[in-house]
Amino acid sequence: MWLHIMDDAVRKTKQNMERFGGQFPHVSLNDEYLLNDNTDWTDGFWSGLLWLCYEYSGDEAFREAARQTVASFRQRLDNRVALDHHDIGFLYSLSSKAQWMIEGDEEAKQLTIEAADALMERWRPNLQIIQAWGPKGDPHNGGRIIIDCLMNLPLLYWAHQVTGDRKYYDVAVTHADQSRRFLVRGDDSSYHTFYFDQETGDAQRGGTHQGYKDGSTWTRGQAWGIYGFALSYHYTRDEKYLETSVRLARYFLDRLPEDHVVYWDFNAPVNAETKRDSSASAITACGILELLKVLPEGHEARPALEEGLSLTMKGLAEHYYTKDKPDAQGLLERGSYSVRGGSSPDDFMIWGDYYYMEALMRIEKGHKGYWYE
Ligand code: GLY
Repeated sequence: MWLHIMDDAVRKTKQNMERFGGQFPHVSLNDEYLLNDNTDWTDGFWSGLLWLCYEYSGDEAFREAARQTVASFRQRLDNRVALDHHDIGFLYSLSSKAQWMIEGDEEAKQLTIEAADALMERWRPNLQIIQAWGPKGDPHNGGRIIIDCLMNLPLLYWAHQVTGDRKYYDVAVTHADQSRRFLVRGDDSSYHTFYFDQETGDAQRGGTHQGYKDGSTWTRGQAWGIYGFALSYHYTRDEKYLETSVRLARYFLDRLPEDHVVYWDFNAPVNAETKRDSSASAITACGILELLKVLPEGHEARPALEEGLSLTMKGLAEHYYTKDKPDAQGLLERGSYSVRGGSSPDDFMIWGDYYYMEALMRIEKGHKGYWYE
């Protein structure tokens, strides 16, 4: 079944490559992807999807298109286009780092190190955090972290590995520790965001940006945490990250609805209108696959993780994959960008498509994504 879906996903991505003509898809509106000229936080996912399709199919057209995205990412960094946020990790891990991993291209490696340096500019030593959004000192966002950032840390861990410079590693670990302490709650749920006082560094309060309410658990945030802590474990071998990822995963899997694909927030009231977020389930599938690689046989969490993965993958394939729609632009239906903000609440999300393909590549080909070598 998976190979059949992957063949279809590759065909759809090729169709999109021709449709998009060098532009980058973000989220959809009326079933059509909104395109941009490499100016959004999501543009690495398109690059990563092209690299995955190349690795799966061997079709040189994907390689050429993926290389062109990397050239665009070079321009973007040189001209500092829309890089005033922490998502530099998503952007460059899946574009230039992927190229370095696949082709050993030295220019791609250099670009990725420069991207890590740009991410380091967001380190706030007085607060011991990587600032997610906005300029330094921004009154609202200046002292704010978000759980999504855990997926940007692999860029820094990788930069430490290839340069030998410890500064990248120390920043990544310190930020992961702050995230673990302040974003993960005692019952294994999570805040989307947390604020620190910019003057004193004091921890102030949890909150949300895209979740149902400040104290709720936004499902995609939980998913970023599951996969993000698993990746911090990969790079550090610090057991506390592994344990945290497992705890977050169990919380997520204990709350699967009847079709096994999550609603957009674990605390949103559920009725016939409640939106799903298929992308959160796809990210979580990848996080669980990473956990299952490293948890010892016989670990008490394995049976629940294995069952949760199987239900999630089956749920996505049966009810969310665009299987009977050969001309569909997206792979997974019913993602939600921001239900709270009224922005693409029930649409295709390019990151949902990327993580779904990554999960399939992990299952079928023993691939591991582009987060580490
Ligand atoms: N990292 C932004 C989002 O998940 O919407």
